[in-house]
Amino acid sequence: MENQKILEILKTINYPGFSRDIVSFGIIKEINFNEGKVLVTVDVKTDNKSQIKELHNSIKNTLENNKDIDEVKIQILNSNIKDDSKETGNIKKIKKIIAVASAKGGVGKSTVSINLAASLSKNHKVGILDLDIYGPSLPMITGVDFQPKVNEDGKIYPIEKYNMKLMSFGFLSGNNSPAIWRGPMVARMTSQFFDDVLWGDLDYLILDLPPGTGDIQLTLVQKIALTGAIIVTTPQDLAIIDVQKGAEMFKKVNTPVLGIVENMTEFICPDTQKSYKIFKGNGAKILSKELNVPILAEIPIYPVLSESADKGTPFVLSNEESKISHQFNQINTFLDKL
Ligand SMILES: Nc1ncnc2c1ncn2[C@@H]1O[C@H](COP(=O)(O)OP(=O)(O)OP(=O)(O)O)[C@@H](O)[C@H]1O
Ligand SMILES: [Mg+2]
Repeated sequence: MENQKILEILKTINYPGFSRDIVSFGIIKEINFNEGKVLVTVDVKTDNKSQIKELHNSIKNTLENNKDIDEVKIQILNSNIKDDSKETGNIKKIKKIIAVASAKGGVGKSTVSINLAASLSKNHKVGILDLDIYGPSLPMITGVDFQPKVNEDGKIYPIEKYNMKLMSFGFLSGNNSPAIWRGPMVARMTSQFFDDVLWGDLDYLILDLPPGTGDIQLTLVQKIALTGAIIVTTPQDLAIIDVQKGAEMFKKVNTPVLGIVENMTEFICPDTQKSYKIFKGNGAKILSKELNVPILAEIPIYPVLSESADKGTPFVLSNEESKISHQFNQINTFLDKL
């Protein structure tokens, strides 16, 4: 039987969901016929499993109906879909990796990270990785309480929400179960995170670091080539010494500190929109001078910012015109120029 004849038969099969036949679609790559056995090689160009199955079955059934054909084998190729599972060095496809760090806990790293990521996601492909193993925040502040999918090679697909790719230790360790892992385990888990999450192409990956400037943080920043770090601080002068420690740590691993975000600069009363300076210090300005880096943003204390986090919805996505959102846009403009 000639290949041309087999091609004629294949022309009677429509591509699933289309009124066009599979031959004119250009997906038939090769036909091999030998003593009643036919091998058809198809380049499906889709990863839609049900479509592929339908295609497979209709080719098989149609050819098997021909009296000259005893056996049908179909080889499915997929030239359009990258096989992420075979990829190593996945992180290399990320253009800019920005760490959000602070020496002290509770100054607003996670709040800054998610809103920065959400703000960037309006024009960029963005991922956010919450590396706080002991107190992951991302599950709560994005309202995600399910586990990510893992492929057969153990690689993890980030969760997609709000047009961002999200990953957190909290997604893996179950709901609110406090992690009790020790340092080396954390370091191992962390390296694995960098290697095993299938981020794909990203313009930005924002890393929400755990507080502190110790070994864990050092391992984290050593493991990958960061574009740079943003240090979050509050106005109290007391925080300055800690921040200096953080800056020194980044220096050790040749990571530039890009700038400072001062959080809780003032309190904005939601009723009157009047501003009150609560903390008297001038920390960010002093640091900015000392480290010779800019203050990228000054974020006021604003109850709605915190409420949005509790509800799992990034503030900047639903309050685009607010002063706070403009502050985040300002950071974006800065990062885009890097
Ligand atoms: N500018 C702000 N206005 C109002 N609430 C804020 C502001 N910044 C942070 N918060 C609230 O303060 C708390 C601590 O913030 P966040 O979790 O972002 O800090 P963190 O530095 O990530 O903490 P940790 O060190 O524990 O990781 C959260 O409840 C958050 O919603
Ligand atoms: Mg945090």
